[in-house]
Amino acid sequence: MTGRLAGKVAIVSGAAQGMGASHARAVVREGGQVVIGDILDNQGSLLADELGDSARFVHLDVTSEDDWDTAVSTAISEFGKLNVLVNNAGIVNFGFLDNYSLDQWNAILAVNLTGQFLGIKAARNALVDSAPSSIVNISSTAGITGSAGQHGYAASKFAVRGLTKTVAAELGSKNVRANSVHPGTIKTPMTEGMDLSSLAAPIRRIGEDIEVSNLVVYLASDESTYSTGSEYLVDGGLVNCAGAVVDE
Ligand SMILES: NC(=O)c1ccc[n+]([C@@H]2O[C@H](COP(=O)([O-])OP(=O)(O)OC[C@H]3O[C@@H](n4cnc5c(N)ncnc54)[C@H](O)[C@@H]3O)[C@@H](O)[C@H]2O)c1
Repeated sequence: MTGRLAGKVAIVSGAAQGMGASHARAVVREGGQVVIGDILDNQGSLLADELGDSARFVHLDVTSEDDWDTAVSTAISEFGKLNVLVNNAGIVNFGFLDNYSLDQWNAILAVNLTGQFLGIKAARNALVDSAPSSIVNISSTAGITGSAGQHGYAASKFAVRGLTKTVAAELGSKNVRANSVHPGTIKTPMTEGMDLSSLAAPIRRIGEDIEVSNLVVYLASDESTYSTGSEYLVDGGLVNCAGAVVDE
């Protein structure tokens, strides 16, 4: 098999729909094999069927250590190894301080942050065994700048950056890299129905899932072997240039 991910076996969490599904498709298109993990069993199984021999679906709730163990052992039993982990599963919730609850806070940290930590813990030995390996943690522009009404979301996505850097520092000598990806506003089920009229990015449209997948492929592949512990924006210029937008 040829392709930019030939010889790579990936787990993509939250891959039944949205950007995760796009990343799973991209892994297979680039010659890799993928374990699709999600709590949406029907959609995940349909995607695995669509992708054929190079894909398997497992039920994966990222807050469950047992589910992560199953995902890792499925990669090894079905495809022989694991050398890419894309921690993509995520949820969003909103609320200003006077009504944002502890339950909302705990729920979002459990999925967006602890879910990534558990995935890295479960995959660590397999990734080391089959290095060169790459961990791609999906954060957000909300992991770079503050955002009113998104306390748990922003805190979880900032923390993903810190987690990524500690993992990169710990596993670099073992040829396992870790980077974070920071999408701006991307068209997926998560953003359906949101009011995006005040979008201030110089590239004046919301992004497509494939535009994020292209970056994920680069970071997952051996094209990026000297890149670790870094954050990669894919946001139409929102974070760095929003203040400088001029419509001619
Ligand atoms: N869409 C955007 O504009 C945007 C921007 C920046 C970052 N992100 C991040 O990108 C990632 C993907 O977002 P998306 O827009 O594709 O969202 P989405 O809601 O379309 O898809 C998220 C997927 O994660 C799964 N998921 C949720 N909880 C889970 C759990 N406990 N265990 C396993 N899977 C679970 C869902 O079932 C779903 O398939 C998320 O981490 C999100 O925070 C999204």
